[in-house]
Amino acid sequence: MDKLLIQGGARLNGEVTVSGAKNAALPILCAALLAEDTLKLSSVPKLKDVGTTIHLLEHMGVKVNRQADKVDLDARHIQSLEAPYEMVKTMRASILVLGPLLARFGKARVSLPGGCAIGSRPVDLHIKGLQAMGAKIHIEHGYIEATTEHLPNKRLQGARYYMDLVTVTGTENLMMAAALANGTTVLENAAKEPEVVDMAECLIKMGAKIKGAGTDVITIEGVEKLHGATHQVVCDRIEAGTYMVAAAMTGGEVKLLNVKENLLDAVIEKLREAGAEVICDQNTITVKSDGKLKAVNIRTAPHPAFPTDMQAQFMALNTVAEGVSKVTETIFENRFMHVQEMQRLGANIDIDGNTALVKGVAQLEGATVMATDLRASASLVLAGLVAQGQTVIERIYHLDRGYENLEEKFNALGANVKRVS
Ligand code: UD1
Repeated sequence: MDKLLIQGGARLNGEVTVSGAKNAALPILCAALLAEDTLKLSSVPKLKDVGTTIHLLEHMGVKVNRQADKVDLDARHIQSLEAPYEMVKTMRASILVLGPLLARFGKARVSLPGGCAIGSRPVDLHIKGLQAMGAKIHIEHGYIEATTEHLPNKRLQGARYYMDLVTVTGTENLMMAAALANGTTVLENAAKEPEVVDMAECLIKMGAKIKGAGTDVITIEGVEKLHGATHQVVCDRIEAGTYMVAAAMTGGEVKLLNVKENLLDAVIEKLREAGAEVICDQNTITVKSDGKLKAVNIRTAPHPAFPTDMQAQFMALNTVAEGVSKVTETIFENRFMHVQEMQRLGANIDIDGNTALVKGVAQLEGATVMATDLRASASLVLAGLVAQGQTVIERIYHLDRGYENLEEKFNALGANVKRVS
């Protein structure tokens, strides 16, 4: 299994191009299942989760042509309406095929996602939403079996559905399902994340009638068919945020290219509060810092509040900042797995329920640590960049799920990161 060796102490300087967003690419790839001809995507990041999704779609019969960051998907001839456990277990986002399969073909059999390192993460709201649209769904042998055979034209029926928790992939799944339903669907308490908006924009190019994406009420007027389209995936605000924190922690100056500042408001505000200078200009963001940071309190919540996917990275920042901070996680239970590993690097952190109390220390010290989930792994890279001596991060396959060319990008900025087998 690959490991990362990080020699701490380098200031990061230079430019880095932000990739397309994993969390937009995955649902948009699945949206190809809705179209009668080719969906052409660009800025699709080269990530393990993208490979897993493409593999799953190919298993269903989608013809995929991938060249560099471009992916063409042709779902004209589908042979299988099933997402098997073997494929779903490694990536929870596989649940995103459920809505489109059911909406276009009237049937789907999708494995329940397995346990997840950052909490139980059920998919009950995806299921209840589809049931509200008339689907018959039962769970058998670990599979979600869904059908619309009993419905008029065997199609889902538009409905009003209130999600009692804000769910990102739930909103996306239901939006895709509603795009081909009979009549109008209104999704209330919908997720407002930029990736939901990006997916809605792609669906609209495919012929869907969607209003309100980016607000908490999304209205979808079902259409009979969707067609192919050309779409560029939005930039990855979490990847961008990770490099911004790295620049601030190492006392460097990093300019991010291909980024939209309005996607990162909460993160930028916290970086400024910590003492970093953040300059936004058209499609670039520059972060400058002298490395002397102040501790900042963080509370995660659905967009536009502070993203849970940046919580671990700010925890890393707080471990070496001046003062004491409270980091509160409200989206996921059990999303503090990085804490134990950071303690191995000398961080001073106490956990009380869903809050971590972080007392900044003068210096972290390199050690061997283990990556536990995607963003936790990123936070360990950040800690390693400022730790004294060498940090070894094991199980880095998590990082490959969500960060494109991580070592290359960090090393181009002056870091000393090496992958060894
Ligand atoms: C997405 C992102 C992930 C991010 C998360 C929160 C993708 C591929 N992944 O994950 O990176 O951390 O949003 O911003 O876009 N819940 C239920 N029932 C459901 C669905 C969700 O109880 O049916 C709960 C979850 O357990 C969690 C909360 O709702 O506590 C939010 O989860 P959700 O927004 O659905 O996360 P994902 O869409 O899986």
